[in-house]
Amino acid sequence: MRRQSTLEPGTRPLHSIGIYTADPDLDHEAKTLAAQTDLPIIRNKSHVETALILSHSGLSLARPNDLKMTGTVQVDFSKGAWKRRIKWVREERLVKAMGKKTLKSAGIIDLTGGLGRDSFLLAAAGFSVRTFERNPVLAALLTDGLRRASLQTATREICGRIHFTPGNAIDFLGTGEATAEIIYLDPMFPKTTSTAKVKKELQMIQHVTGEDQDIDTLFALALQAAGERVVVKRPKKGHWLNDIRPAYSLEGKTIRFDVYLNRSLAP
Ligand SMILES: C[S@@+](CC[C@H](N)C(=O)[O-])C[C@H]1O[C@@H](n2cnc3c(N)ncnc32)[C@H](O)[C@@H]1O
Repeated sequence: MRRQSTLEPGTRPLHSIGIYTADPDLDHEAKTLAAQTDLPIIRNKSHVETALILSHSGLSLARPNDLKMTGTVQVDFSKGAWKRRIKWVREERLVKAMGKKTLKSAGIIDLTGGLGRDSFLLAAAGFSVRTFERNPVLAALLTDGLRRASLQTATREICGRIHFTPGNAIDFLGTGEATAEIIYLDPMFPKTTSTAKVKKELQMIQHVTGEDQDIDTLFALALQAAGERVVVKRPKKGHWLNDIRPAYSLEGKTIRFDVYLNRSLAP
């Protein structure tokens, strides 16, 4: 069945993003979230392009007026697909890109947390992961997802290995406060990447954050701060960041991981 837009034709949403809750019990929590994110509280979801929805089952994102994007996006590590991925986590290309001989105690910094999926996989593989996310909306979703996952027996231990800091990773790398053996970054793919292939979660992130404009700076700082390697997720046919050739790449169907070993970091 086709979904009807609740907006009058030709009417634009009042705000691009707002916080919505249908439950008066959560009004106080909504106000706290509004203060943290600097977003307005809205009484009607159709007044925004993107709604951050607060309910008793957690926080989720929706595009109420976007007929192409139905449903919601939530950070939920209890889904069946995650159980399978956790079980076979050593087969994940992302985990392999961290290096076979790398000690789990080495520690990883994930500079671009997003919805936390990559951090979660790395933590499931046994790594201790320090994660940053600068967008307040995504940071709120990730905080909420990690909180719920840390209450579940199956995911509690994994979450215990993720140390999440909302904020701009450049500020931490710039001060030398964040160093690790391995630094990972997954910049937003350019808009030219076929949207048909971009999953709903990524499209939602794109709507909220736009393109990353300062990824070259982030990458340059990562090269200086990493003890052993920097791993970058790229579209399969994307260019090398800052035109620096990686030591090697691990290719998948649509993406690849470029691996920079510290002996090859200097341009
Ligand atoms: C493609 S998404 C990452 C998706 C993530 N790997 C996952 O598994 O869900 C890129 C994210 O990096 C964040 N980001 C970009 N530059 C950043 C920075 N300097 N500091 C912190 N986060 C940053 C963006 O806000 C965006 O949410």
